Amino acid sequence: MSAERADVQQIKDRIDIVAVISRYVTLTKAGSSYKGRCPFHKDDTPSFWVSPEKGLWHCFGCGAGGDVIGFMMKIENISFVEAAERLATEAGLSFAAHKGDDSRDELYEINIAVSRWFAENLTNSAAGHRGREYLAKRGYPEETWERFSLGYALPGWDHLRKRFSAKYGMKPLIDLGLLVRKDDGTTYDRFRDRVIFPILDLSGRPIAFGGRSFDGQPKYLNSPKTALFDKGNHLYGLSWARESMQKEQSAVLVEGYTDVISLHLAGITNAVGSMGTSLTQGQAHLFGRFVKEVVISYDRDTAGGMASLRGMQILRNHGLSVRVVRLPEGDDPDSLVRREGAERMHQLIDAAAPFHVFYIESLKERHNMASITGKEAALEEVRPFFHGIRSLPLRQEITTRLAELLNLPFDGLMQELTRGGLPRRPEAHVEEEEHHWDPQQVILSLLLRGDVSWDRVAALVSAEDFAPQYRSIVEKVSQMRGQVDVSSMTTFLDEDSARQVSYLTLSEPPWSDVERALQDALKRLVQLPEIEKKLNDLRGKMENAERSGDRRHLDELQRAYSTLVAQRLSRRRRDGNKQAAGQR
Ligand code: CTP
Ligand code: MN
Repeated sequence: MSAERADVQQIKDRIDIVAVISRYVTLTKAGSSYKGRCPFHKDDTPSFWVSPEKGLWHCFGCGAGGDVIGFMMKIENISFVEAAERLATEAGLSFAAHKGDDSRDELYEINIAVSRWFAENLTNSAAGHRGREYLAKRGYPEETWERFSLGYALPGWDHLRKRFSAKYGMKPLIDLGLLVRKDDGTTYDRFRDRVIFPILDLSGRPIAFGGRSFDGQPKYLNSPKTALFDKGNHLYGLSWARESMQKEQSAVLVEGYTDVISLHLAGITNAVGSMGTSLTQGQAHLFGRFVKEVVISYDRDTAGGMASLRGMQILRNHGLSVRVVRLPEGDDPDSLVRREGAERMHQLIDAAAPFHVFYIESLKERHNMASITGKEAALEEVRPFFHGIRSLPLRQEITTRLAELLNLPFDGLMQELTRGGLPRRPEAHVEEEEHHWDPQQVILSLLLRGDVSWDRVAALVSAEDFAPQYRSIVEKVSQMRGQVDVSSMTTFLDEDSARQVSYLTLSEPPWSDVERALQDALKRLVQLPEIEKKLNDLRGKMENAERSGDRRHLDELQRAYSTLVAQRLSRRRRDGNKQAAGQR
């Protein structure tokens, strides 16, 4: 990898890290750096920093950080090689990587080839006429197939295996879920005689497939969880919708593949699909990167279900506004937009009710408001929901609506709902950074900032004095000697180490006096091992004293021993815990 890594340095030298990151994060200038809201966690206060001078970024909220390649890898969910390739193209450089080095790259390559083959089967194969007729009947004419990469899986048990196993081998095909292995070791094609809906990642590469049967069961068959695909971390159609989502700061969330496609065809291009499962934290996080609001447009029965209510709460807890579309009974977005057109769907989206209104109305469907026990049950259900709401005006409004629904007086209801006091903020809060660094971090940070030279430090400590997680960084620093170039350094480090480097370089240092900080850290770093040595000594002496029966001496030794143990403990407390400060 080393020849390529050297090229990578050239790419990084040419690329403007601020320009690249600005495509994903709104950055404002702050001194010689830039700051913005972190795209990798829910960030209320801008805690994401970019230093063009150092070529590094770091989020002081969630601890993510590194160089521009690491940023691309993380935000686009791509491999090192892919990130380098893309940036190289931008910089007008060529970056020749050996594809085979990276097994993920091969998996992508296979999925791309398979997806093309499915598409070809749809348009050209004789058997494909079933798929062609089906799609045409559903209102998806041939011109649209390419746009959504639609395809067809041939009937029969081994077309895919025969076509691809010679070139790629069986293992990756099984790993990708394209072949299913039976107990006797033989395999068969997962997708047979189905219309194929490829599921693409953010950058438009196929990571999984959904296949719809014409009449058989199950209606849809999907790729299992693989190295490239985890249902809960993806949204169907995101690569087509992201631009318009960002522009409108709003997304329409539907359940199905065909809902997404029909809405896009109707010009509602900010629609994405949850693929039938309840929403996960990962998906909420994805939304948070692109929009402020999610408009839920599920089938009527699904929308009111507890699973989707939980999903909506997850979205809200990520700071997103949620509204809910009310579709006519028996419709999904696909059927509605095909029957009544885009205009009607737009109206319904505009009229979508805020989550709390929708939620309170949905209580009627679960509880009998005419009976006392029904009202009690509704109240019990509402309590945790109510406690999750921080805004006082919103709590007032909810109480008003509930009072009406339950036919109870407002004051009594408010009292009842706040009984026992409102709990503290429900969201997990990013802890304030405590500037309690262990001595290793202090020394490394001084080195990375160029405040002290390696030679000065090397006189007293060696790489082995550092904990394993810091060792690769120390080695790089010692190799660079005089001139520590942090930006080129991260090229050679893994993600965790790169994160440490960006943290230790870009954070506010907890000291004001460099010299004092260094001396103090050196003392702390070498003192602890000394205590260890003394304890060892004492143990030997205590054994001797015990053997010779010298009780007085043994008592003395034991007292000294406990004092040292206490010292060690207090030092560890002081230095220890915060070792993780730069980590997540
Ligand atoms: N789904 C699935 N497996 C199933 C059924 C559904 O993965 N056995 C997922 C699919 O992503 C599907 C979505 O859940 O698109 C919604 O399911 P459903 O409403 O049943 O299907 P529709 O999308 O309406 O499909 P169609 O219009 O083709 O009938
Ligand atoms: Mn449908």
